[in-house]
Parts: sequence; structure tokens; C-alpha cells
Amino acid sequence: MKDIIKKYSNGEITVVWKPKMCEHSMNCFKGLNAVFDPNKRPWVTIEGASSAMIVNQVSKCPSGALSIEQENKTTETMSDTKTDFSIEVVPNGPLRVMNDVTIKHKDGTEEKRTGRVSLCRCGHSENKPFCDGTHKKINFQG
Ligand code: FES
Repeated sequence: MKDIIKKYSNGEITVVWKPKMCEHSMNCFKGLNAVFDPNKRPWVTIEGASSAMIVNQVSKCPSGALSIEQENKTTETMSDTKTDFSIEVVPNGPLRVMNDVTIKHKDGTEEKRTGRVSLCRCGHSENKPFCDGTHKKINFQG
């Protein structure tokens, strides 16, 4: 199945959203709801804030589902500043890898993820090995 990728541009920056990677933390909505509102269609209103504010908010996306394209370059925040490799065990949620990684899938294909990625820990994601937020629906405890 082909991954859906949505893009929202204001001419300066483009917000890239990969819904299959989203773990529905709601950080974007809580942090900048003038731009990110899942109750609206489209859910991203790129004109709702300055480019700097949007870039700052996207940098807080825990799953890497949101990223910024600027001048034909994808910038997924933390990869520029992180030099160490860390994995966060999110309470009742995924493993959050805070670095560029290459995922080698069971069919042998490799997929590069930059910045951060959330990996399913509950075993119920429909997009394994990535977290898709299902852990919340099943009330995963761990
Ligand atoms: S940990 Fe999020 S879907 Fe499994």
C-alpha cells in the first residue's frame, strides 16, 4: 500500500504530513491550533501563523509525522542538533527513536527515517513497525 503524504505550503515553507506515522499525540493541536486543527478540513491552515512559529511547532512532533520542506530540502528538526542516539520508552506508548535511522523491513527493503520515529510497542499498529496511535484505542499499559 502506498503511503499518503500531504503537503501544505505558504511559499516559504511546506509542512509535510505523513498520516501513517502520526501517533496522535495532539502536540501540534495543543501548541498551535491556529494552524493544526484536526476538526477542520484541511486540518492544516498554513496561513494561521508565521513560518517561524510553524517550524518551531513541527520540531515538537514526537513521531516525525510532521516535517518541514524548505528550499527543496527536508528538515526534520532534531536530526540537526542531536549527536547522540537515544530511545525513549513512552509510558503506555511507543518506543521513540530520536535520530536518523534505517529500518530494514522483513522483505529486505530499507527505509530511511530522519529526525525521529516512533516504533510500535503494543503490537497492535496497522502500520508496523511504526506506531499509528492504536495503543491509545486499546488502552495499552506498559
Ligand atoms: S505503540 Fe502505538 S500503535 Fe502500538
